[in-house]
Amino acid sequence: MDICSPNTRESKMALTNRRVFLCQRPDGEPRVGNFRTEDCAYPTDIQDGQIVVKTLYLSVDPYMRICMKEDTGTKYLQTWKLGHTISGGGVGVVIDSRCSEFVAGDIVSKDFNWPWQLYASLPTLHTNKIDGSFGSNQLSLALGALGMPGLTSLIGIRKRAKIKPGTNQTFVVSAAAGACGSLAGQIARLEGCGRVVGICGTDRKCRFLMDELGFDGAINYKTDDIAARLWECCPAGIDVYFDNVGGKISTEVIKQMNPDSVVIPCGQISTYSADIKIPLDTGTLMLLKERRISREVFAANEFTDLFVEGRKQLAKWVREGKIKTRETVAKGLENCGAAFIGMMNGSNIGKQVVHIADP
Ligand SMILES: NC(=O)c1ccc[n+]([C@@H]2O[C@H](COP(=O)([O-])OP(=O)(O)OC[C@H]3O[C@@H](n4cnc5c(N)ncnc54)[C@H](OP(=O)(O)O)[C@@H]3O)[C@@H](O)[C@H]2O)c1
Repeated sequence: MDICSPNTRESKMALTNRRVFLCQRPDGEPRVGNFRTEDCAYPTDIQDGQIVVKTLYLSVDPYMRICMKEDTGTKYLQTWKLGHTISGGGVGVVIDSRCSEFVAGDIVSKDFNWPWQLYASLPTLHTNKIDGSFGSNQLSLALGALGMPGLTSLIGIRKRAKIKPGTNQTFVVSAAAGACGSLAGQIARLEGCGRVVGICGTDRKCRFLMDELGFDGAINYKTDDIAARLWECCPAGIDVYFDNVGGKISTEVIKQMNPDSVVIPCGQISTYSADIKIPLDTGTLMLLKERRISREVFAANEFTDLFVEGRKQLAKWVREGKIKTRETVAKGLENCGAAFIGMMNGSNIGKQVVHIADP
């Protein structure tokens, strides 16, 4: 493997390095112009306990839209400072190590705090060695099915869904063809739901859900009458709703939920570009109460103790072909901003990643 690891300080400093930073906060919908790419120095200031990595893949995620705000309004997310290198989930190869657990050539990933930079120094806390059994062309799985989207879907369902196998429950998921949604639907079936229905934004995505993932129903929220199609696809009502989007779609779903059913409020992407938090309307809140529908806050990060076991379970399912994975891959550090905006606008099927470099 050519890991481009010249040994002298001078030859390392001669390596071209690049980074992406936030140059402007969006006013409403984010734009490519909010991001800027520039040359930067190779990281020569490596400390004890750190590694230097060459970035291979980066993740773009909906929560990043909240980090672009001056105030994220939540304890879970830090605001991105203007001019500072953006960070998120990443995969890369170790070039240099001052930590006994990692050696040059190891392929590693982090769910958070991986800089959008070609070469970067990283603290090794929460750095994972990648399961080599999936082969070198599947390294980005660590950002999808074997990373935060997989863990979020698995833990969200196991901790919140109250699935009773054998009772033919109906599971509905929104942003169903995306990273979390496509996995959540498949996991719900594996965990015992009888009927799985997805809501997404294009007919192509609907076909993906039905033909490739074996969903029982798919609804295009942009062209279908959501209420009528939910009625057709969920004749026995809805028992579990894995909510990735919030807003009007979720209001329509909740109207057709059964008594004692469950909403898993995974995310609210439809509201992330708004200036203020948009609460549920009074009618929906009343429905939740009347039908005793539980809707307990869910953040995967509160369950880090379940991550090791969760990754093992997800890897087993992927290896056995029980979970199908799909990615949309953009190319090049300079296209991270465009990939993020594309994902926010629905151009991805499965997990959106950016391929930065080869090992
Ligand atoms: N709770 C947690 O710990 C946790 C962890 C990870 C992610 N999340 C949340 O899970 C959700 C999905 O994240 P992901 O990473 O899997 O992203 P994703 O689904 O792969 O990508 C986002 C998708 O959202 C859909 N979308 C965008 N704007 C929308 C709108 N106004 N109304 C309806 N759908 C819209 C788009 O698909 P369409 O073509 O279908 O519109 C887009 O492809 C997000 O809300 C995210 O914040 C939560």
